[in-house]
Amino acid sequence: MAKTILVTGGAGYIGSHTVLQLLLGGFSTVVVDNLDNSSEIAIDRVRELAGDFGRNLSFHKIDLRDKPALEKLFSATKFDAVIHFAGLKAVGESVQKPLLYYNNNIVGTITLLEVMAAHGCKKIVFSSSATVYGWPKVVPCTEEFPLVAANPYGRTKLYIEEICRDIYRSDSEWKVILLRYFNPVGAHHSGYIGEDPHGIPNNLMPFVQQVAVGRRPALTVFGNDYNTKDGTGVRDYVHVDDLAHGHIAALNKLEEANIGCEVYNLGTGKGTSVLEMVAAFEKASGKKIPLVIAGRRPGDAEVVYASTDKAERELNWKAKYNIDDMCRDQWNWASKNPYGYGPQDNSS
Ligand code: NAD
Ligand code: UFG
Repeated sequence: MAKTILVTGGAGYIGSHTVLQLLLGGFSTVVVDNLDNSSEIAIDRVRELAGDFGRNLSFHKIDLRDKPALEKLFSATKFDAVIHFAGLKAVGESVQKPLLYYNNNIVGTITLLEVMAAHGCKKIVFSSSATVYGWPKVVPCTEEFPLVAANPYGRTKLYIEEICRDIYRSDSEWKVILLRYFNPVGAHHSGYIGEDPHGIPNNLMPFVQQVAVGRRPALTVFGNDYNTKDGTGVRDYVHVDDLAHGHIAALNKLEEANIGCEVYNLGTGKGTSVLEMVAAFEKASGKKIPLVIAGRRPGDAEVVYASTDKAERELNWKAKYNIDDMCRDQWNWASKNPYGYGPQDNSS
C-alpha cells in the first residue's frame, strides 16, 4: 500500500518541489501550510504536474502551532513519516523579530513532535541549514564540524536539531534525519513551479531573477573584497529538484533499522562566487544584470561549501545538476512567471 507522508510547509519553495517528487514516486501526500510565505496556487500546479498521481495530494491550511487542528489531522490519517519544512527563514527579519522566529519555528516544531509522538508517528525528516556551520574555518564542511548560530534564525535551526537529538535519546523508537541544505536554487524544468518569496528577496538568485524581469534595477553585490577568486562570496548552490530527490532518499533511509538521529549535508560540494553565478544567469537568460558593488553584508561568511561524502555513501544521493542547469531552470520559471504566483504587485 502507498505510504502516506505529511509535508509541513509543502506549499513553499522546497516543499512544493518535494511534494511533486513524492507524488510521482507513488507516495500519498498531505500538505499542511499556513500560506504565510506561499500560495495555494503552488499546490494546484503541483497537482497538475503530477497528472494521475495528483489525486493523492491533499492540502490543509493549518498553522503548525494550532495543536487541535494537527490533532484532528493525525486522528483522521495515519502518517508513515513527516517531512518538516514549515518555518520562517529570513535572517534579517529574525534579527528584528526574534520572538516571532522562536515562536513560529520552535513552538511549531515542538507542537508537531508532540502530536506525532501521541499518535505513534516517530519518523521525521527536518530541514536544517548550512547556517549551522557559521563562518567555517576550512571547507568543505563535514557533518562533524562544530555548530554555531549567528542570528535567531540560525539558532532556531540549531535548537531544533538539538531537540531532535534529545527526543531520540529519550525514546529510541524515533528515527530522525536532519538535512542541512546549502543554497537551493533553480526550479522544476516545466517552469510551472518555483521560488516566489513575499517582499524583497534576501537571497541571491530570487533577487537576480527579479532584476532580469525588470522588477528591480540592479543587483547589489555584498562585498568584492573577500579572499576568493574574484573577491565575492562563494557558496554551494544546489538545484531544488536535486534537493527534492534528497528527501526521497532520506525517507528510504528511515526504513532502515537503527537509524537513530542522523544528519546529512545536501549540496554539490562545489563553490561558486556571486559573479560566477551572475555570469551563468546572464548566459542562460540573455539578460544583462546591472551590478552595484556595496560593502559586505553583516554576518556573511566568505566561502561555504559542502562535503557530500556522507550523503553519497549513506543516502546514495548525489546532486546531478550543475550551475548552468540551475540558471536555465531559474530563468524558465522567472520568464514564464515574472510575478511568481501572484498578480503584478508593485508594493513589494
Ligand atoms: P518557504 O518559505 O518557501 O517555505 C516554508 C513554508 O512554511 C511556507 O510555505 C510557509 O508558508 C510555511 N510556514 C511557515 N511557518 C508555518 C507555520 N507556523 N505553520 C504552517 N506553515 C508554515 O521556504 P523554503 O525555502 O521552501 O524552505 C523550507 C525549509 O528549508 C525552511 O525550514 C527553511 O528554513 C529551510 N532552509 C531553506 C533554505 C533556503 O535557502 N531556501 C536553506 C536552508 C534551509
Ligand atoms: N548576495 C549578494 N547580493 C544579494 C544577495 C546575496 O551579493 O542581494 C551574496 C551574499 O553576500 C552571499 C551570496 O550572495 O555571498 C549568497 O547569499 P544568499 O543570501 O543567497 O545565501 P547565504 O548563503 O548567505 O544564506 C542562505 C540563507 C541562510 C542559509 C544559507 C545556507 O539565507 O539562511 O543560505 O543554507 F543558512
